[in-house]
Amino acid sequence: MINLGVVAGGTHEAKALIDGWALPEDVAAARARPDSLLARAVLRALLQHFSGCHGWHLRSNPRGKPFVVDDNGKAGPFVSLSHSRGMVSCAVSWTGPLGVDVERHRPRDVAALAAYAFGPREIAEVARDGASAFFRIWTLREAIAKASGDGLPLAIDGQDRGDGAPLQGWLRRDGWWLLTALPHPGTSLAVALTAEPGASAPSLDWINIARVRHPRL
Ligand SMILES: CC(C)(COP(=O)(O)OP(=O)(O)OC[C@H]1O[C@@H](n2cnc3c(N)ncnc32)[C@H](O)[C@@H]1OP(=O)(O)O)[C@@H](O)C(=O)NCCC(=O)NCCS
Repeated sequence: MINLGVVAGGTHEAKALIDGWALPEDVAAARARPDSLLARAVLRALLQHFSGCHGWHLRSNPRGKPFVVDDNGKAGPFVSLSHSRGMVSCAVSWTGPLGVDVERHRPRDVAALAAYAFGPREIAEVARDGASAFFRIWTLREAIAKASGDGLPLAIDGQDRGDGAPLQGWLRRDGWWLLTALPHPGTSLAVALTAEPGASAPSLDWINIARVRHPRL
């Protein structure tokens, strides 16, 4: 089971989420990056919905992969967060390591970027279908890179990882469950979750973050 939230920044909803959910430690960790602060507020609301607890501490390993612990240092659910030009997404699961990536489409030399970072079948898909294929594959690669914790080196390693994915829906590939989605016009989102042998596709709940009740209220 995965809980997933997507929120657009610069809105009244986003401001209310930051005012209501972000803690001083989130303000420090976001280092004056508004999207990063919003992502931390969204993650806290999502964790409250998912685990019934608000007081998790967000940490990251030496490669930057985030994880949460309670006051006693006990590990919480697996988490991932992403922000792209005012669009924020967070995902939470107990099932296993997961990664989420959101990208707002913008003009890019997609053929050149694909040639630099993608595998041969992915490059062919971008040549055939253009920017929509590029952002779908890019977000899938980033989601896998976050779930594995490898980050950028994996995302640009030139191996096919996200070709043949549907416009929206699940693909099982190389030990991962991969989800592609278009949550807003011009925005691609992907989730990668470890796939256990024989397990069926994970259930996914899109959470309306603005409606998560704060424990103080
Ligand atoms: C860091 C990386 C994992 C993702 O970066 P990104 O797509 O630019 O940024 P996102 O907003 O989606 O994700 C950033 C979050 O990933 C998380 N993250 C960072 N390193 C991570 C790692 N090794 N594993 C898992 N998660 C990681 C952090 O929580 C970070 O948020 P924070 O800085 O607010 O704490 C890495 O793959 C990267 O730098 N990619 C380059 C991005 C790029 O060139 N994009 C072009 C798109 S066309």
